[in-house]
Amino acid sequence: MKKLSLAVLLLLSPCFAQAWPWSRDMANQISIKPQESPDPANPGMYPFPSRSVPVPGTTVFVEDLDAAKKMANPVVADAKSIQKGKHLFEIYCTPCHGFKGYGDGLVGKKLIMQPFNLSYTNTMHSWQSPDYPDGYIFGYMTLGGAVMPSYANDLSPTERWNVVNYVRKVLQKAPAGYVAPQSN
Ligand code: HEC
Repeated sequence: MKKLSLAVLLLLSPCFAQAWPWSRDMANQISIKPQESPDPANPGMYPFPSRSVPVPGTTVFVEDLDAAKKMANPVVADAKSIQKGKHLFEIYCTPCHGFKGYGDGLVGKKLIMQPFNLSYTNTMHSWQSPDYPDGYIFGYMTLGGAVMPSYANDLSPTERWNVVNYVRKVLQKAPAGYVAPQSN
């Protein structure tokens, strides 16, 4: 019986080992802990970088594509917004939609469904039609499609409207004299 209780004690001993003062020696080093200040003159936690912590109530809730279509574009399509939109489009959209928005990106070619044409050369529908307002493009980015992923977490609402402005003013601006081919 004595032998058994000794064996049980030995088996349990690692549990108590955590309580020994030297058991945390490896953890308590001079290395900087997560969220610890590297500056001894300025100890305490560094403030979180902006947009690294979710804040409830800051996301624009979009019910569905129909609701998105009704949204008015709150961001003026000035040079600054278009420039920002171009930058973001080239990061997030070109892999599938291509630099000109033709839907010919390298990643897009591998998908079971080819990315749609976002440019003025689209023959599936006219981007000038009231059925495809700015809110439609915003909604697609927010909700994603059958194959296209949602960008609601990657792009803030303002960033998404900047992308809309770039798509509208640059990619969908037909050169003078362009005649759209008749769709059959
Ligand atoms: C992983 C590939 C992929 C990426 C990246 C991607 N898309 Fe798409 N997109 C698609 C596919 C595929 C479709 C076809 C429809 C679907 O998936 O439902 C599509 C469709 C669309 C449509 C609908 C077009 C129409 O004629 O109805 C819009 C608008 C759109 N994408 C915008 C964007 C924007 C803006 C970005 C960048 C933020 C983007 N997409 C990034 C794959 C992608």
